[in-house]
Amino acid sequence: MLELQDAFARKFHYLRLSVTDVCNFRCQYCLPDGYRPDGRKSFLTLDEIRHITRAFAAMGTNKVRITGGEPSMRRDFTDIIEAVASTPGIRKVATTTNGYRMAERVADWRSAGLDAINVSLDSLDPRMFHQITGQNRFHEVMAGIDAAFTAGFEQVKVNTVLMRGLNDGELGEFLAWIKSSPIQLRFIELMQTGEMDELFERHHVRGAAIKEKLLEAGWQQRVRAHNDGPAEVFWHADYVGEIGLIMPYAQDFCASCNRLRVSALGKLHLCLFGEYGVDLRDLLQSPGQQAALQRRLREALADKKATHFLHQGHSGMTPHLASIGG
Ligand code: GTP
Ligand code: 5AD
Ligand code: SF4
Repeated sequence: MLELQDAFARKFHYLRLSVTDVCNFRCQYCLPDGYRPDGRKSFLTLDEIRHITRAFAAMGTNKVRITGGEPSMRRDFTDIIEAVASTPGIRKVATTTNGYRMAERVADWRSAGLDAINVSLDSLDPRMFHQITGQNRFHEVMAGIDAAFTAGFEQVKVNTVLMRGLNDGELGEFLAWIKSSPIQLRFIELMQTGEMDELFERHHVRGAAIKEKLLEAGWQQRVRAHNDGPAEVFWHADYVGEIGLIMPYAQDFCASCNRLRVSALGKLHLCLFGEYGVDLRDLLQSPGQQAALQRRLREALADKKATHFLHQGHSGMTPHLASIGG
C-alpha cells in the first residue's frame, strides 16, 4: 500500500472530515459575530463522503473524525457515521460536537459505529458558558456527557479553551470535576484566526503556564505513544480523569502532526492555518475516480509545510476554524 507520507517523513493515518460549517452556537473564538454560513453552499453528500473515506483508507487512514461546524446539524449525521464506520480499513470513527443534541442522540450515534466523542465545554458556570458560546445550554451539554457514558463510551474528551479574564479562573473547578469521572479534559490554547485578532490579544493564555501549575500539583506527563497526535497528556494518582494540553504555540507542536483535513466543501487542507486548500470535488463523483483522487491527494501532500504560520504572528488565510473543523 502507498501510504500518505510527507516530505518530513510524517505519516497521516488520521482524517478530519468536516461535514458542515453550520453551527447553532456562536463561540467567541470560533464564529465571529454576525457570521452567517452561506445557505447556498452545498456540503459533501453521503456518496461524496463515501468516496473520500475510501480513498484515504486505501492509503492507510484508519481513523476519521467527523467535524463541523456542528456535525449533528446534518440531518443525516447518523448515516454519515454508519458510512464512514463501514468503510474497510477504518478502525476508529470519532466526532467533535458542541453537545447540543448529544443527550437525545448519542446512543444512536454509538449504534451506528461511533467509537469516540469529544465535546466542547468552556465553562462549568452556566452564565460564563452562555457568555462564551452565545447559548444558554450548559445543563443540556452536561446531560449529554452523562448520556455518552450511559451509551457505553468509556471515556469522553472535553475541549476547553482557557481565556484570560473569562474562564481562566476555573482551573480548580475543572480539576475537581474530573476527579472521579473518566474524562480527558483538554485545555486548548486560543489560536489567532484572521477575524479574531483582537480577541486573541485580549484573552490568549499560554499553555505552558497551565503545565507548570499541573506539574506543581503532582500531575505527571504520560509518555507519548507512537502515532499520538500533538496533545500532551497528564495523569494523577488521585484522579480518574486525565488532562490533555494542546499547545499549538509550543515549539515542535507540528513535528507530531498526524492528520489531514477535508472541508465540508470538499477541499483538502494540509494544515489548519496558512493555505487555501486543494479542491477534490470533481473527483468525488463516481467510484471510477478513485485512482485519480488518490493521485491528487498524494501530490498535494508533497506541499505540506513543516509547521503552521501561528509563530509568525498571523493566521495565514484562515478567517475562523468553523469551516475546517478545528
Ligand atoms: P483526538 O483525536 O482525540 O486525539 O483529538 P483531536 O485533538 O485530534 O480532536 P479535537 O477535534 O477534539 O481537537 C481539539 C482542538 O484542538 C481542535 O478543535 C483544534 O482547535 C485543536 N487542534 C486539533 N488538531 C490541530 C492541529 O493539527 N493544529 C492545531 N493548530 N490545532 C489543532
Ligand atoms: N482557538 C482554539 N480553539 C478553537 N476552536 C475553534 N476555534 C478555536 C480557536 N480560535 C476549537 C475549540 C472547540 C473546537 C470545536 O474547536 O476547541 O472545542
Ligand atoms: Fe460551533 Fe464548535 Fe465553533 Fe463553538 S467552537 S461555534 S460549537 S463550531
